[in-house]
Amino acid sequence: MSGIRTYTMVKPTAMRKGFAAGIMNKITEGGFKIIAAKMTKLSLEEAEAFYAIHSERPFFGELTTFMSSGPIMALVVEKENAVEAYRDFIGATNPEEAADGTIRKLYGTNIGENAVHGSDSDENAANEINFFFSDREIF
Ligand code: CMP
Repeated sequence: MSGIRTYTMVKPTAMRKGFAAGIMNKITEGGFKIIAAKMTKLSLEEAEAFYAIHSERPFFGELTTFMSSGPIMALVVEKENAVEAYRDFIGATNPEEAADGTIRKLYGTNIGENAVHGSDSDENAANEINFFFSDREIF
């Protein structure tokens, strides 16, 4: 059975451009309920731990340097079949390939600076939520 929660975060470039509120508004309009929110900043070591699953990828250094370059907005969102529904909602990883009207199409800059992260499985969603939030910060 698929879960009702997924983890997402507004990435540093989208934060710098002032898109956080617009993105959160769009998430809500899309039928996702925001049940946790936190503006924070990852150290390089934290970004490396968060993206450990990608540590063998050629873009790992670029990804972790970027993700620790400025504040992010960490969010937990709730909806039926959350992981898949949210990934469909934000659009393809590369904003150039993302469907019109999706968050990555509207707010993304390039494949690395693609506005938002979205968990890719229920297991990773649970781990990523725990990485950023304690139980008492989730409503
Ligand atoms: P995200 O959903 O945060 O999970 C892993 C990230 O790696 C992904 O979004 C992209 O931003 C990033 N990524 C994937 N492919 C590339 C690439 N070829 N170059 C740089 N970053 C990438």
